[in-house]
Amino acid sequence: MIQLIRGFRDILPGEVELWQQIEQKAAKLFKDFGFAEIRIPIMERTELFARSIGEDTDIVEKEMYTFPDRGGELITLRPEATASIVRAYIQHKLYAGDPVKKLYTIGPMFRRERPQKGRYRQFYQINAEVFGIASPLIDVQLILMLVTLFSRLSVTDAVPHINSLGCPQCRPQFKALLTDFLAAKTDNLCPDCIRRSERNPLRVLDCKVPSCRESLSEAPSIVDTLCPDCSRDFDTVRKTLDRLSIPFQVDKRLVRGLDYYTRTTFEIQTGALGAQNAVAGGGRYDGLVKALGGPDLPATGFAVGFDRLAEIVGLDKQDYVAAPDIFIAALGEQCIIKAFEWSCALGREGIRIDMDFSDKSLKSQMKRADRSGARHVLIVGEKELEQQAVIVRDMNTSAQQKIPIAGLTEKIKALIDRKQD
Ligand code: HAM
Repeated sequence: MIQLIRGFRDILPGEVELWQQIEQKAAKLFKDFGFAEIRIPIMERTELFARSIGEDTDIVEKEMYTFPDRGGELITLRPEATASIVRAYIQHKLYAGDPVKKLYTIGPMFRRERPQKGRYRQFYQINAEVFGIASPLIDVQLILMLVTLFSRLSVTDAVPHINSLGCPQCRPQFKALLTDFLAAKTDNLCPDCIRRSERNPLRVLDCKVPSCRESLSEAPSIVDTLCPDCSRDFDTVRKTLDRLSIPFQVDKRLVRGLDYYTRTTFEIQTGALGAQNAVAGGGRYDGLVKALGGPDLPATGFAVGFDRLAEIVGLDKQDYVAAPDIFIAALGEQCIIKAFEWSCALGREGIRIDMDFSDKSLKSQMKRADRSGARHVLIVGEKELEQQAVIVRDMNTSAQQKIPIAGLTEKIKALIDRKQD
């Protein structure tokens, strides 16, 4: 039997309903905060990701699904959405007129990481990007949106961690400090970190290797070397989060795994997922639009790890799985034909229906009806059909009544107290 690819997975019925619920809540959140949806391709030219995410990152160095297409062009399955949205913003001149654009997209991303719980090679993200707003207040609003989404999904135990990565003016000073610090620690660093401590020392800060983590506990904090502008912005973020009563932690090790960030960066972390504790991440990336050939405009955004979020939502199954309104149990060939006609008519009216096509015993059909979670069951046998009637059973109370077939759809509509969608 051919199995699916390692690190890839199927989202099966039962779980999909939860995913749909999360998608609906996310779409509603984005509407509430003035975001428009954008849909972008799954593949882009490799260069787009290499230039935006950074050549020295894990993603570009070792995780991208990159291959030449049949024309010989190097293309990559997107490891994230930000680069593509920036490309679309520039390519379609979405900055013309009003450069302020708030965009969201939901879809699959691909990274060839080592699979484990909460880490997949195809995973899904809920992405938000804001262009043209320099004020740090929008960064706070993005964090507020995440906190709101999580609370609407009954996620407890999700805390924003924030840091600032400075700007091209102040970051070199911090890099120099960090490089000096790392030079004294080379004996305890992993080979990746030794290599990176010269080319891209910030990356060393979020290495997960225990000996590296330990060596870095005393590392300098970038927040102490920010220039006045970056420092002021980061202060605003902290004070505004306080004013909004959003608890958060400042985390000097939070450098994110992508190179485009500037100033405020953040992650929403949870204890509920073991090693994969980041359920969302994001931050400001003011230089990227220009670096990719667009105008010099600020930008900021986030991505939620959909798979991880689905693991920790606190909803009950009945909150999102829709049981049929009516299950039809039909006994005998004539009755099955009748039941089929009713089920078609009721379904067309927007009533959720299910029926048994098997002509099995009433007992076996009732078992299925019960499993389906339907609130009412229509039972029809030869005798009822002769009398131009059906039996309606309320599965909660077990009460049964016989109702005439004439005007059945209207009667059923009156019976179910669900608002039609
Ligand atoms: P990221 O931190 O690489 O940021 O990914 C965001 C979230 O996607 C992570 O916090 C995690 O929940 C989820 N995620 C990442 N990799 C995996 C994986 N292999 N399996 C399951 N979930 C995963 C970005 O991608 C940026 N583009 C976010 C952003 C948007 N920054 C600004 N705008």
